[in-house]
Amino acid sequence: MDEPNAGARGPAPANPGVIATAGETADNPLRDPRDRRIPRVAGPCVMVMFGVTGDLARKKLLPAVYDLANRGLLPPGFSLVGFARRDWEDEDFAQVTYEAVKEHARTPFRDTVWQQVCEGIRFVQGEFDDDAAFDELARTVAELDAERGTGGNYAFYLSIPPRSFPVVVQQLKRSGLSDPGPADPGTGRRPWRRVVIEKPFGRDLTTARELNDIVDAVFPAHSVFRIDHYLGKETVQNVLALRFANTLWEPIWNRSFVDHVQITMSEDIGIGGRAGYYDGIGAARDVIQNHLLQLLALTAMEEPVSFDADSLRQEKEKVLSAVRLPADLTTGTARGQYAAGWQGGRQVAGYLEEDGIPADSRTETYAAVRLSVDTRRWAGVPFYLRTGKRLTRRMTEIALIFQSAPHLPFAATDTKELGRNALVVRVQPDEGVTVRFGSKVPGSAMEVRDVNMDFAYGESFTESSPEAYERLILDVLIGDPPLFPRQEEVELSWRILDPIEEFWAEHTKPDQYSSGGPGPASADALMARDGRAWRRL
Ligand code: BG6
Repeated sequence: MDEPNAGARGPAPANPGVIATAGETADNPLRDPRDRRIPRVAGPCVMVMFGVTGDLARKKLLPAVYDLANRGLLPPGFSLVGFARRDWEDEDFAQVTYEAVKEHARTPFRDTVWQQVCEGIRFVQGEFDDDAAFDELARTVAELDAERGTGGNYAFYLSIPPRSFPVVVQQLKRSGLSDPGPADPGTGRRPWRRVVIEKPFGRDLTTARELNDIVDAVFPAHSVFRIDHYLGKETVQNVLALRFANTLWEPIWNRSFVDHVQITMSEDIGIGGRAGYYDGIGAARDVIQNHLLQLLALTAMEEPVSFDADSLRQEKEKVLSAVRLPADLTTGTARGQYAAGWQGGRQVAGYLEEDGIPADSRTETYAAVRLSVDTRRWAGVPFYLRTGKRLTRRMTEIALIFQSAPHLPFAATDTKELGRNALVVRVQPDEGVTVRFGSKVPGSAMEVRDVNMDFAYGESFTESSPEAYERLILDVLIGDPPLFPRQEEVELSWRILDPIEEFWAEHTKPDQYSSGGPGPASADALMARDGRAWRRL
């Protein structure tokens, strides 16, 4: 079953006023009529999307909007306005959305839901510096307010390159779109305006601050939603449940038991058609600065007093401010660039042969770093972070590797197959948690070997996980900020990465590694020097 509510028990609440309306719910195959959980449903609003012709919109954002509608989480009248240069009518944008939904939506296609989404689709054509186009956009959303009761509530999704932020944000201000105006005299309610920005949040601390100043000059901090899509993943949110809903792990979640932590995000794909974005950015800025440091923060932070945005962000910020770099960046970091090789049974080009990449590019496609977290809980425990493209397989995980037993009362030969105990959060693709420990091999000898105890989402839950963007778009529309990093976190993360980038720029060039393999030898050497090894990809 695809509907996340499907596994719950109890009678269904009346949930009028969502796109899959009450009348339809009865024959909605996605709904479990026993579901008692109160769905978090967005209020009336318009989402204005900039960058609708891009890959992200087509593969993730537009399908996520449909999936939310299909799950009954969007309000009646919800409207979607696309803004782009293309010479399109509303129908053309609707067609593009339809194709994106058909190809990439997570939940099954239902014509009634699609028709409802389609009624709220509009398109405005224009360049970002075209005043008239933004005036037209303002007219379009005002008409939607009048026709579809969207109440002046607008979310602006900037799925555009950062260089276009200044002009778009300024246009939103000039055209009056960023200003929610006064409260409604009847209801006393003030409409809201929110802006959603996608990483990269700058390319270093300085540019991140410049970018923030631009957005900050127009939107108040609480209206800015920065997307790090890893925080929208179920398995990432589950780190909080695993740690703070249980008693089992807390006593061992510290330096007294943990030897080290490995956080891996490996991909089997290359850079695809993203040369323009990727070259000069590289793996560390693309993934470590945001996704991996967020995973580190969730793994290493103390328990927040609640899961409200301030409490959660404060704890993450405390950890990020306690992160320290290795004293020697030559031995404590590694970087690589994929060379040609074989992947998935086909021959693939090296990074330097990719379209649009200069033959002398020094951009890394693999990065590894050893960090420490200077707190009482983690003093002396290294956190190894690695990410790379064109590696053996696609896999993201957080692994806590525990210390060896202080004494092994066995014959040495009996424990030669015994490794370190480990707790592994399998973020993707095989979502779940593994506990690895030694167990006696059946037989007359006391031979001990590693075994796994597994929790797999697919086996424990009937519902499939929503896509990260479903969760994040819904949270933007509801105005729920805990899963969105604030500027302080962005800056703290750049403070960690900037010295590494500066060092790399001056001292080293990336080592070549074969496509389809585990990464550069220098990354293995980094671990070997510490007497450790990476987990197998
Ligand atoms: C993005 C990076 O943030 O995450 C991409 O810019 C990367 O380079 C992508 O491919 C991976 O996301 P996921 O959800 O597939 O792990």
